[in-house]
Amino acid sequence: MHRPLTILGIESSCDDTAAAVVRDTDILSSIVYGQTSLHAQFGGVVPEIAARAHAEKLDHCVEEALAEAKLTFADLDGIAVTAGPGLIGGVLSGVMCAKGISAATGLPLIGVNHLAGHALTPRLTDKLAYPYLMLLVSGGHCQFLIVEAHDRFQRIGGTIDDAPGEAFDKTARLLGLPQPGGPSVERAARTGDAKRFALPRPLLNQPGCDMSFSGLKTAILRARDGVVFDKGGLTPQDQADLSASFQAAVTDVLIEKTRRALDAYLLMQPAKPAFAIAGGVAANGTIRNGLQTLCAGLDTDFVAPPLELCTDNAAMIAYAGLERMQAGESDDLTLSARPRWPLDQRASPMLGSGKKGAKA
Ligand code: KG4
Ligand code: ZN
Repeated sequence: MHRPLTILGIESSCDDTAAAVVRDTDILSSIVYGQTSLHAQFGGVVPEIAARAHAEKLDHCVEEALAEAKLTFADLDGIAVTAGPGLIGGVLSGVMCAKGISAATGLPLIGVNHLAGHALTPRLTDKLAYPYLMLLVSGGHCQFLIVEAHDRFQRIGGTIDDAPGEAFDKTARLLGLPQPGGPSVERAARTGDAKRFALPRPLLNQPGCDMSFSGLKTAILRARDGVVFDKGGLTPQDQADLSASFQAAVTDVLIEKTRRALDAYLLMQPAKPAFAIAGGVAANGTIRNGLQTLCAGLDTDFVAPPLELCTDNAAMIAYAGLERMQAGESDDLTLSARPRWPLDQRASPMLGSGKKGAKA
């Protein structure tokens, strides 16, 4: 048995400034400052504004995380920081902050891949054993990963264009529903007829686990324009039917592709098969229920961490750093920030390996 490590985590790769303290699998504190209001008028995250806001907030965030954990730097074993992928200015702000603390305190510095943070979260929340299958699905990510070890990930599929969260956000904009689009489309869909509009299920007829959501954005635009052309506008029922039809298309694609990803994963004959999801889209009830039912039919545990740990946070970075440190790994002050950093270096490059979309 190893002695429990206490790690400070720092995250600033997109539009959340976050710091957290994790001891073993206990989250002692987790502070997240969002920047939504700073970017609202621009329709997406503005990298320079994000970087400046991170630089202003990071040290307060670290102070708060330590205070809430009732610890000082002297109680820590290391500083873990997101070193990529993400918006370079934001990642640099975090890396510089962590380097400063490391230089001043002598604590080891541990660079963490942001996607590894998401992918290892089920170990922090549910102590999942390797290997497990993971679906990262948000406004910026969409990929299937078989997580074999803290530093071994097999990407077996992902989006070839947009992430589903981005498609939800675009759909909401097209239908005149508020942002973020996911929750408002889900709400509208509750009273809608999912069969009224025949939207495509992109790449469903092709083998493998790759997905595509950009065609669906165009299809919803055409369907909306058709209704507007006929009636001169959208009624609340039209909004509901378009939302339900869109959500059904995304759900069908995610479930069928997950079925195939599970087939590939179960070939590894894991002792305790498990499938976990992370990312904002994992909050969607229809998608979540569909995935849960699929897993139940395949005797596979379904793990959905609490939403605040599915979306960007620093507890996941602290925990991923903790696993690196337990494996005897750390970095030094030459650690650099990487805008792109695929988890699976063997897989061919694709958009899903970085961060893009409305939040990136
Ligand atoms: O993980 P997240 O907070 O941030 C990143 O994208 O990194 O995910 C945000 C995305 C947004 O696109 C939002 O519309 C989507 O997750 N989302 C949802 C739901 N709640 C949030 N999509 C579908 N259904 C939801 N209930
Ligand atoms: Zn993320």
